Amino acid sequence: MSLNRSAEPISEDAALANGYLADTSRSDPRVSPAVLTTELRKEFRTTTALGGLSMTVGRGEVFGFLGPNGAGKTTAVKLLLGLVRPSGGEAMVLGAPAGDRETRRRIGYLPELFRFQSWLTAFEVLMLHCRLIQLPRVRALSAIDEVLETVGLAERRGDKVGTFSKGMQQRLGLAVALVGDPDLVILDEPTSALDPVGRHDVRGIIRRVRDRGATVFLNTHLLEEAEHVCDRVCVIDRGRSIATGALVDLLGRSSSVRLKVAGLSDDDLAVVAKFGDVARDGEWLTVARIQADEIPALVAAVVSAGGRIGAVIPEQQTLEERFLELLGKS
Ligand SMILES: Nc1ncnc2c1ncn2[C@@H]1O[C@H](COP(=O)(O)OP(=O)(O)O)[C@@H](O)[C@H]1O
Ligand SMILES: [Mg+2]
Repeated sequence: MSLNRSAEPISEDAALANGYLADTSRSDPRVSPAVLTTELRKEFRTTTALGGLSMTVGRGEVFGFLGPNGAGKTTAVKLLLGLVRPSGGEAMVLGAPAGDRETRRRIGYLPELFRFQSWLTAFEVLMLHCRLIQLPRVRALSAIDEVLETVGLAERRGDKVGTFSKGMQQRLGLAVALVGDPDLVILDEPTSALDPVGRHDVRGIIRRVRDRGATVFLNTHLLEEAEHVCDRVCVIDRGRSIATGALVDLLGRSSSVRLKVAGLSDDDLAVVAKFGDVARDGEWLTVARIQADEIPALVAAVVSAGGRIGAVIPEQQTLEERFLELLGKS
């Protein structure tokens, strides 16, 4: 069942707006974006889960879909997979309408909430999945070995899922999403059941998936997760995208720094002023809108002007502050 009920192709304007030039980029499976949505909407009775989402995810990106609980992340992913039907708008995945069966085999998916059959072994769960994606048996066997190794479950391949801890089940879920080297890996809150070591492992796994050229679409409400692995993020709140871009751009490159300085007269402050906006409060100087990599030069300038430095405290806006600021505006 295709999600793309409209026969109309996505307009060139929409493709342009999303940063993709011509129609050909969508129809050629090698260069079409991994994900392209245009005004994608989903309403559940009185709830608008997704209120018109337009976004593009390029091939080979680790794309973070970041937002608080209830923002619409899981709904968006289910729309991309064809598991729920949109109320409006369009979604293309790997160059085909969302939900396309053939394409579905090239997408790995870790659902937010899942439960494997407790009586199956890890190997059997994975073999079942390999059959679903129609991987020939010999390839399936090596793919399963490889993926169990990747997620750290090689030793438990013959054990029943019912004996697995929550974290191990999460790792198995990840293995299911990765087996057979899918072109697009969609992970919905992949580290929710994992301890810090597990979270660290997952980041490494995500980077490896990216290194082999696949695209990762990562749903997360965890800022640090996005911060560590994502090339770009879309921040979503109440069904609407409120910011998209590289994290460095969302955060801004400039920061401010506070210096505790003795022995500098107001006249000497001229050497500091060229680095940013200076404010003085007793022996504390604040230099706002300074480029972070200019801080050493600032310190050197203060010292050569005769200042004695007691402290240097850089204050970059954290992702958390920026996130709350964005949510506050939305
Ligand atoms: N099947 C459903 N029926 C009714 N409301 C739903 C359903 N699925 C999701 N919602 C609602 O849509 C909104 C977005 O939910 P969801 O996509 O799960 O958010 P997230 O994954 O970002 O936490 C929430 O208000 C949620 O209650
Ligand atoms: Mg969710």
